[in-house]
Amino acid sequence: MINLGILISGRGSNMESILNFLKENNIADICPKIVISSKPEAEGLKKASKYGVPTRVVSNNSKGWDYDSEIINILQEYDVNPENGLVCLAGYMRLLSPEFVRKYKMRIMNIHPSLLPSFPGLNSQKKALDYGVKVTGCTVHFVDEGLDSGPVIAQKHVAVLDNDTFETLSERILIQEHILYPNCVKLFSEKRLLVEGRRVIVT
Ligand code: GRF
Repeated sequence: MINLGILISGRGSNMESILNFLKENNIADICPKIVISSKPEAEGLKKASKYGVPTRVVSNNSKGWDYDSEIINILQEYDVNPENGLVCLAGYMRLLSPEFVRKYKMRIMNIHPSLLPSFPGLNSQKKALDYGVKVTGCTVHFVDEGLDSGPVIAQKHVAVLDNDTFETLSERILIQEHILYPNCVKLFSEKRLLVEGRRVIVT
């Protein structure tokens, strides 16, 4: 059994895609325990409640480990720990401290709207359009101490169309994100992700 904690800051559509996937497919060996938001106004909080998942907000001004230790206290209160837990970042707008990453080593995942290592950081869809690439997409990766730099678990490509805007491209990427992220969570729970250095092998 994997105890799942999801960290959000906003809309929470990726969080919802995971919760919906678990519910629709009756996946009993992943238990969503807690959704934590860094912002009290995050739309995702209401969505989580709709699925009956407890929610918490940590919106104080502390930084680094001071902030993350509060998050970890909540995760552990809900039994999402480094032995049985998985932490999914889903539009979570904070960088994790090295202490957090080390404590939950290869048990924290993130979804990013580009084909990493291209266009890390914010506004990746705009960066892809501005650069003029013909193909972009989304990436699910384990979180390491850098920015969007951890081992890649899976990617999906999306064609960039000549008439794309930030909105149209983001929308098509998001559709793929909602397919990719739940699948990676499932693979993790089935212990099918083998990390060898930077490579993640799906067994
Ligand atoms: C997504 O595009 C995700 O890839 C990025 O932030 C956005 C979050 O959207 N990390 P949502 O909150 O999951 O709807």
